[in-house]
Amino acid sequence: MLALAYDTPPTWTDAALADLPSLLLDHYFLEIKAACSARWLEAHHAEALALHLKDLRALAKEEEAHAKRVQGFLHASGDGARPQRENRYVLGLRRLIAADGHKLLDRLLIAALIEGRSCERFRLLAHAERGSALGGFYEDLYAAEARHYAFFLELAAEIAPSALAEARFRELARAEGELVAGLPHGPRIH
Ligand SMILES: [Fe+2]
Ligand SMILES: [Fe+2]
Repeated sequence: MLALAYDTPPTWTDAALADLPSLLLDHYFLEIKAACSARWLEAHHAEALALHLKDLRALAKEEEAHAKRVQGFLHASGDGARPQRENRYVLGLRRLIAADGHKLLDRLLIAALIEGRSCERFRLLAHAERGSALGGFYEDLYAAEARHYAFFLELAAEIAPSALAEARFRELARAEGELVAGLPHGPRIH
């Protein structure tokens, strides 16, 4: 069960699907970024996450496989517009990493929130497109991102005392909710 502080309204889905090629292109970049950040964690926090390096590698490979599947739909749908604006969602989340706090904890919790938000929105897309190949694809993906959400929360709970991890998660989830609520709807996942 996702513990997000803001529920995406159903109107988001119509705005996202109004320009499918652009949505798919944005989604493609999201999967690539997810793979890169798992590999980044593996390379930069190998000691703290020593017991989970194999899992992080597997997650990166899974995200790359998602990107490949998005590419298949992208080829079939035609060219999407390259995302025009910077990704305000990712930039906003990056600013939440406490400069003087537990940076790894924040990174893991933010990774969980990104997975959780993707999961929530893939589920909306799966529902809107049910019965089609695209709907089936988003169904698969939302189950995978739900696993990733739980995985990053598990890592966070391992590297910090649980009271600290839980309190910080609540703070970050609230901030993520405010951030995402303020973003315009359009053919983007976030
Ligand atoms: Fe993914
Ligand atoms: Fe993921």
